[in-house]
Formats: sequence, C-alpha cells, structure tokens
Amino acid sequence: MARISASVYTSHVPAIGAAMDLGKTAEPYWQPLFKGYEPSRQWLKDNTPDVIFLVYNDHATAFSLEIIPTFAIGTAAEYKPADEGWGPRPVPVVKGHPELASHIAQSVIQQDFDLTIVNRMDVDHGLTVPLSLMCGQPEAWPCPVIPFAVNVVQYPVPSGNRCFQLGRAIKKAIRSFDGDLNVQIWGTGGMSHQLQGPRAGLINREFDNMFLDRLIADPAGLAQVPHIDYVREAGSEGIELVMWLIARGAMSDTDRGGAAPHVHHRFYHVPASNTAVGHLILENR
Ligand code: DHB
Ligand code: FE
Repeated sequence: MARISASVYTSHVPAIGAAMDLGKTAEPYWQPLFKGYEPSRQWLKDNTPDVIFLVYNDHATAFSLEIIPTFAIGTAAEYKPADEGWGPRPVPVVKGHPELASHIAQSVIQQDFDLTIVNRMDVDHGLTVPLSLMCGQPEAWPCPVIPFAVNVVQYPVPSGNRCFQLGRAIKKAIRSFDGDLNVQIWGTGGMSHQLQGPRAGLINREFDNMFLDRLIADPAGLAQVPHIDYVREAGSEGIELVMWLIARGAMSDTDRGGAAPHVHHRFYHVPASNTAVGHLILENR
C-alpha cells in the first residue's frame, strides 16, 4: 500500500526562481525569504519521499486559452521546464511516475472526478519554483513528481470544497496503490496577490494568516469559503489558494477518526515580487 506521509504548502512566485537562477539569494531583499525555507530543505533531505504529488497551476504555458482543463494529471515519464519567455529555467527535467499517476487517474475518475490525462507537457514556474524552494539547486530533483494542474487562471475555476473533496479522493487512490510508496502531496500558489487592475499589489496579511490557521485546524470549514471572498480579500490571483485545499484534503484527519497533523514548520513573508509568501509543512501522525 502507498501512503501519504506529509503535505507541503508554498507560494510559487516566479521572481523567486529568477533570484535563485541568477545567484541573488543572499541579497538583502531575498535573504529573509530563503532563510524561511532553510529548515524545509533540511526536512526534505531527512524525509525524502518516493514520489511527490504536486498540485499547481499552469499559467497559460502548457495549456493556452484554447484548451482549459479544470483538473489535469500528468502521466508522462518526464516533463521539461517550460520556456515562459526568457528561455527555460536552468533546472533539472522533472521525472514522473507513470504507474502511480495512472492508478490515481483510474481511481479518482471512478470516484466521479473528471480528470484530464496529460501524456506530454512542459511545466512552468507554478511547479518548478516550489521544487527550487524546497530542494535548492540539485543536479536532479530528489524523487519523481506527479504534476497535477488546476485551472485557477480562467473563470470558472473549481470551488474550495470541490478541491477539498478531490484531495480526499486522491488520498483514497494513493492508499489503494499496490506498491509500498511514501508519497508527499504539495499544494502550491497563493498567498494574497493581485497582478493587474487598480488593486495591483494588494497584500492582505490578516487574511493570509487566517487562511494558514484554518488550513491547519479547520480545513473543512475553510473549504466553504466562496470565490468572491478570495478575490475580495486575497486579490484576483489569491484564488490560487484553493489548490492548498487539495493537499489538505488528502491528509489523514479528513477521515473519520484521523488524528490532526503535526505542524512541522510555518513561515510567512512579505513581499516577494507582488506576492505574500506563505509556507507550511504538515506531517501525518
Ligand atoms: C507573480 C505571482 C504569481 O503567482 C505569478 O504566477 C506570476 C507573478 C508575482 O508576484 O510577480
Ligand atoms: Fe501564479
């Protein structure tokens, strides 16, 4: 049986990737941010899983506005870093896990969630920046990754509750895999940010910290928050936060009788580019 040992949550600000790729992490602007991830990098070294199930959003890179899957699971053997206009980031190719990904697709679709199956795609900052934050600059990523792309770019986007219930289905799928695998699930994107319009630059520390508190202690209640509240409080791109509810739904305490997860690390920092950065590591007991 495969099992989910922990979940990781982190923002994916593209400028963080650029700061790492251009050797700027020690600059005064960036230093406090990267310091917040030092314990996380050590934790991941000490707790390297067999597979990371990485929930993220594509930013009209792999999927243009011609085709917009709500939920897409990567079943390929590998994924190349995308060219987002400045050339591909100089980071390793992402190796997939086709066997587990195909099993999850089978199980989750049979649990009535309609996934798009993706056998070829490039991965943008939504996926590579969380890996860079958690792993630094290795020659190869520490384990295979299953990319799971969620549409939070073009309305209509899925509700928080849909994401939370989907996380529970993914947990059930992983547990029914016939193979002894330690899996982590990562939820990425967020926190408050708005990139365009009169409110560009919006940051809401109070909302972000309330979101972190409730993600830990009241995820089912948090899943009831409607889109309009995210957009009003966290900005138009703050809606990326619904992806964190997929990872949270996959933790053990969302079963009846499951124990609350252990909070291994919590970090919040403003600003990184136009974005508030939030980060959590939750371990199943
Ligand atoms: C920024 C944040 C994002 O989530 C993104 O996808 C692009 C840019 C930013 O803060 O600059
Ligand atoms: Fe984004």
